[in-house]
Amino acid sequence: MELLRKLAEAPGIPGREEKVSEIVKEALKGHVDEIRTDVLGNVIALKSGSGPSPRVKVMIAAHMDEIGFFVSHIDEKTGFLRVDPIGGFDPRVLIAQRVVVHSDSGDYIGVMGTKPVHILKEEEKKKAPEMEDIFIDLGIPADEVKEKITVGDSVTLKQNLMEFGELVSGKALDDRVGIYVMIEALKRVEEHQCDIYLVATTQEEVGIRGATVSSFGIAPDIGIAVDVTVACDIPGVEEPRRVTKLGEGVAIKVKDSLSISNPQLVRKLRKIAEEKKIKYQMEVLPRGGTDAGALQLTREGVAAATISIPTRYIHSVVESAHKKDIEAAIELLAAFLEVAHQGKYAL
Ligand code: CO
Ligand code: ZN
Repeated sequence: MELLRKLAEAPGIPGREEKVSEIVKEALKGHVDEIRTDVLGNVIALKSGSGPSPRVKVMIAAHMDEIGFFVSHIDEKTGFLRVDPIGGFDPRVLIAQRVVVHSDSGDYIGVMGTKPVHILKEEEKKKAPEMEDIFIDLGIPADEVKEKITVGDSVTLKQNLMEFGELVSGKALDDRVGIYVMIEALKRVEEHQCDIYLVATTQEEVGIRGATVSSFGIAPDIGIAVDVTVACDIPGVEEPRRVTKLGEGVAIKVKDSLSISNPQLVRKLRKIAEEKKIKYQMEVLPRGGTDAGALQLTREGVAAATISIPTRYIHSVVESAHKKDIEAAIELLAAFLEVAHQGKYAL
């Protein structure tokens, strides 16, 4: 869990993932044969297989970026900052959060403020907050803000990883928990004949950009994305709309809006889970997507699927996942990599 903590607490909005990539490279040291970073910042590691060449190439992708902001405006008189959101934010969960502004001169802690309820007009009370209502207060005079901060600096939400009950909770479990699963699975894998390309991707939240270019370069035979999925097992959501439930195991994705998983791969993942008695659930997600959307459309097409970690409160600072589901995801991915070279994944 220490690695998950480091990953989840590190800042890294799309296009600014370098701090996360340092942690990934450090964690992979000694476990892979090659490691490099490409122009878009993707960390691409290769663990060669024992099979005769040409070997089956399996690419595993989990994204390093988290939703966040770029500073878009600094108020002349007050020094309050306005920001441009990067990724799908719900402004309702942003009010009253602590943030960190990352500038070349250092990191600055601030708060996302809003008007207190005491002065709200009746009509203001009724409407949900919008991005325009949100500003950042750094607690320093305007002149100092202008010296230290530049339009274009990145902003992340500030939140520690916390364990409570059977869950872990924090910011950016989407998708640092996927990176954690991928790294732990790679460490656990025993004999494998396929070449394993482990890719910590960039810019997923703004349109699966890192996965698109890294997958083109690797040209894999099989692509597996590891990402969080919606668990709506919460009050006020009826059973059919829950998608997945915490504690019910790793989710094997059938579809979301960016990809339909290769049916042979889905069958294989299910079979492995059954045989190894790994708890799993099937996932049909109405909206959302993962790097599998890019993997599937690479070159002439790639057999792709997603292994999902059910997560409550996605895209908030209290994203929460079940420790047993995380463990099940690691087990399933490791077991798959050992037998990935077998079988055909065409329709
Ligand atoms: Co996301
Ligand atoms: Zn994600």
